[in-house]
Amino acid sequence: MRMKAAVLFEQGKPRPYATSRPMVVEEVELDPPGPGEMLIEVAAAGLCHSDLSTIENQRPRPLPIVIGHEGAGIVREVGAGVTDVKPGDHVITVFAPSCGNCRYCVRGRPNICPTGNAFRAAGQLPTGTRRLRRLDGTPINHNSGLSLFAQYAVVARRSAVKIDKDIPLDDAAIFGCAVMTGAGAVLNTARLEAGEGVAVVGLGGVGMNALFAAVAAGAERIVAVDTNPRKLELAKQWGATDVFLAGNEDCAAQVREATEGGLDTVIETAGTVPAMQLAIAITARGGSTISAGLPNINAQVSYLHASMVSEERSIRGSYMGSCVPERDLPRLLGLYRRGKLPVDRLKTSHITFDQINEGFDLLSDGSVLRQMLRPNA
Ligand SMILES: NC(=O)c1ccc[n+]([C@@H]2O[C@H](COP(=O)([O-])OP(=O)(O)OC[C@H]3O[C@@H](n4cnc5c(N)ncnc54)[C@H](O)[C@@H]3O)[C@@H](O)[C@H]2O)c1
Ligand SMILES: [Zn+2]
Ligand SMILES: [Zn+2]
Repeated sequence: MRMKAAVLFEQGKPRPYATSRPMVVEEVELDPPGPGEMLIEVAAAGLCHSDLSTIENQRPRPLPIVIGHEGAGIVREVGAGVTDVKPGDHVITVFAPSCGNCRYCVRGRPNICPTGNAFRAAGQLPTGTRRLRRLDGTPINHNSGLSLFAQYAVVARRSAVKIDKDIPLDDAAIFGCAVMTGAGAVLNTARLEAGEGVAVVGLGGVGMNALFAAVAAGAERIVAVDTNPRKLELAKQWGATDVFLAGNEDCAAQVREATEGGLDTVIETAGTVPAMQLAIAITARGGSTISAGLPNINAQVSYLHASMVSEERSIRGSYMGSCVPERDLPRLLGLYRRGKLPVDRLKTSHITFDQINEGFDLLSDGSVLRQMLRPNA
């Protein structure tokens, strides 16, 4: 079928993207779903910082590519062998492709399935195929087994979870990345308990979901840190007990002093080396620094090894919030239904294809939370 998509032809173009236009919106060809795949109409797709990192070339990707990995939509057609979803069903997409059979998948860690990673690096769906082409026949690569900055997407059955139809699809879309990542880092990776203290460093779409989850989990002290004062104001309104402006040298000392030596759990959701260094510096003795931010592929952070040992500190990564999507999306949507994950607040704007390049300028400026592309609006 013919449809419109935003195709990224070159990584690392200069800002402003409104002028350099790294993505070109054009008509492309989408093949029908093959075995184990399905066609979904994309209702909404969020602009995530990981998409921005791809545009900036923080991680090289096969080109041309259609990016966009946070979304929700309606199943329009299913391929051979797909029997448990049908046209008309609503789904949230899953950006970490997984095989279901490897040692990580069977131990409940599909988020780190290496099989999925290999297909992602090759720009393929986890079924080993590509379904996107330019009108001249040039193949277009998939992003994270998805490619949601498009009117439609063909995805593997395992790359989507069916949801109830009463959930507004543009709220549901945010669960596909920011909610699983941010709330999952707090609830799954950190296993935060009621009465504990936590800090969130970096208050974008991901970090704000970490904040919501910390409030939902009953954290006693919730410290929110960002370089943008406006984000701090919002965090305070949304349940942070203390806020600190990052970007000055005193920030770590101020947090340590206010919290008598730092927090037991610190969640880093900015994706920069200074933010990670700050996160480590405000983690208390015996505490854990959990990083969900994704900096440049070659970024290195150092820490004092002896104090890591003698103070029993830990540093952990958290990918897709350590989520098992089929298990966790229903739980997270349950919290949403009870008003505890108010993702509606994160929607800065709804945009159409013609605003997509400008949208990444705004995300890069740090002035927005989630901008939602409605490719069929
Ligand atoms: N681990 C995962 O599975 C996963 C999934 C999605 C996104 N990510 C990554 O998470 C990060 C956040 O994504 P997002 O979409 O919320 O981004 P965003 O751009 O909306 O938010 C980032 C926030 O960090 C703040 N910040 C920047 N430098 C800082 C510093 N030194 N100290 C404190 N705050 C600082 C910015 O002001 C901004 O508010 C990105 O690196 C993204 O690639 C990871
Ligand atoms: Zn994302
Ligand atoms: Zn696997």
